[in-house]
Amino acid sequence: MNDIYSRAGDAADPPSLSPEYRSTVLRSPSRPLVIIPQTLSEITGPVYGHSDVLPGEADLTRQHAGEPQGERIIVQGRVLDEGGRPVPNTLIEIWQCNAAGRYIHETDQHPAPLDPNFTGAGRVVTDDRGHYQFTTVKPGAYPWRNHHNAWRPAHIHLSLFGPSFLTRLVTQMYFPGDPLFPFDPICNAVTDAKARERMICRFDLETTKPEWALGYNFDIVLRGPAATPPDSD
Ligand SMILES: [Fe+2]
Repeated sequence: MNDIYSRAGDAADPPSLSPEYRSTVLRSPSRPLVIIPQTLSEITGPVYGHSDVLPGEADLTRQHAGEPQGERIIVQGRVLDEGGRPVPNTLIEIWQCNAAGRYIHETDQHPAPLDPNFTGAGRVVTDDRGHYQFTTVKPGAYPWRNHHNAWRPAHIHLSLFGPSFLTRLVTQMYFPGDPLFPFDPICNAVTDAKARERMICRFDLETTKPEWALGYNFDIVLRGPAATPPDSD
């Protein structure tokens, strides 16, 4: 059973300490890690339920009386395991700032407008083919005071549980061609260039709907050599 989830292969993982990303200096472990033996519980442990996820929760543009400001987008893709097999029936949660780059959160005091028609959180469960789809608006860039003139590239946060505790993934999805990539210590905490590319969605004309929304494709790989890198947060 111990071989079902190997320890090796997630080379995309950013190190816990990335000094350019300042908050990792305090958050990262200061002592050597204790390796805990893997046991059967890693594949038999409880997995968070999702019986209360409603179909409408995947559309972040329909949660209020009016539509949010910004560029309407569709983000869709598949969740895959390390063998490339679809992961059906798994919970995906997303959260993001609005089109102006502002979160609904008391610690976000960035002087950009809140949008009364946008909360910025959604959930969906993958279907039998491991497929998911969200409708939302493209998030804006925002400043974050990590260093002088620090701005985050536009991104959507994602949390996935997968089939076990060891497939938990919290990550961020970025948009193609963002000029802020070279300056962002969170992106660049993932040191492998190919792994960084796996955090960037792909513009997809097939998903794009005429007169309605731009479409993006983002496949998420939970573990293994092709894994989507986790958030270094
Ligand atoms: Fe963020």
